[in-house]
Amino acid sequence: MRPAERLERIPPYLFAQLEQKIADKRAAGVDVISLGIGDPDMPTPPNVVEVMERAVRDPGTHRYPSNRGRPEFREAVTSFYRRRFGVELDPETQVMPAIGGKECIFNINFAFLDEGDVALAADPGYPPYTGGPLIADAEPVLMPLVPELGFVPDLSAIPDSALERARLMFVNYPNNPTGAIVPDGFFDRVVEFAREHDLLVVHDSAYSELTYDGYVAPSFLATPGAMDVGVEVFSLSKGWNMTGWRCAAIAGNADAVAAYWRLKTNVDSGLFDAVQLAGAEALTGPQDSVREMCAIYTRRRNLVIDALREIGIQIEPPRGTIYVWAPVPEGHTSASFAEEVLKQSGVVVSPGSAYGPNGEGFFRISLTVPDERLAEAVERMRSSFEEVVREPEL
Ligand SMILES: Cc1ncc(COP(=O)(O)O)c(C=O)c1O
Repeated sequence: MRPAERLERIPPYLFAQLEQKIADKRAAGVDVISLGIGDPDMPTPPNVVEVMERAVRDPGTHRYPSNRGRPEFREAVTSFYRRRFGVELDPETQVMPAIGGKECIFNINFAFLDEGDVALAADPGYPPYTGGPLIADAEPVLMPLVPELGFVPDLSAIPDSALERARLMFVNYPNNPTGAIVPDGFFDRVVEFAREHDLLVVHDSAYSELTYDGYVAPSFLATPGAMDVGVEVFSLSKGWNMTGWRCAAIAGNADAVAAYWRLKTNVDSGLFDAVQLAGAEALTGPQDSVREMCAIYTRRRNLVIDALREIGIQIEPPRGTIYVWAPVPEGHTSASFAEEVLKQSGVVVSPGSAYGPNGEGFFRISLTVPDERLAEAVERMRSSFEEVVREPEL
């Protein structure tokens, strides 16, 4: 048996590797605290679970769903976009369910890239922006995100040789892994750039509802002209603690949504109807739990920022996402630091280099563990940081 060569082109998925390391440590008796993956620790809001319970008992939801999606789901996304972002969508042509944002991002590559085409992907960035194009026989071209530019790509630095072949551009704000929010005017520049180079912009808004200190994230689709050049991938995973449900939507340019639909009808059989009904409830029901989550993450973020400050790592508190992105102490690479922290304190942090070459020199902490465990992790890290910082001088 020989797996396809394309599998060799992609590195093993970071969190699959981390899971193994954590399992090994736990088997050796270590009380591991994982601040690696961003998987919310709090339950899905009860009103959503209740709708799911009713829906799953209704045999009408037990058959193949349509890839186009239930009208209730498409209309819920449409009304949410109107209320929350001031964006008007046609629920018939501009909205479709997805089996999670990851599926949607991955499949967009297959719907829009041919062999030799280019997808422009943020570096550091969510791994499927690069893995997707590679598996689709295309080429990801990295757009560096550096702190000096507020973690937005310098569009003028993208080489012409890449732009000639570029079909897709992935952007994501609030940004994973850097926690950056979109600066004023950047989405307008992206629209102009996409027009100039005939690109489909894919804005991944996985963290739009998790923002702090009064910041409210916009939709890319609210940018004048965005509907002509782009789609937004809107996931319910993080905002409503629904990572296990696999519930997301694609919204925006009708031709792009139709291309995604055409591909999907050949790939899968749609999102479970009961999950669509529960997702509709999440979007149209009470939003208190989203506000509560923002308060919880603000508290946890401050805990981590204070602890880092005490050991000499000064960073601006992120105003969005569920991550803290921080520079590794001098004398370490991202990987050596993450290894060391795991070894000395039993705490898992993600090495920045796993998100792309420009992630080197950073590490990421996820705020998705209960407060007391996070406090313990931070405390353990505080002592191991001292060890780690001292170690290279020994
Ligand atoms: C930027 C970004 N996009 C998409 C996703 C995936 O979300 P989903 O659970 O909807 O597949 C994640 C998950 O961590 C993410 O960080």
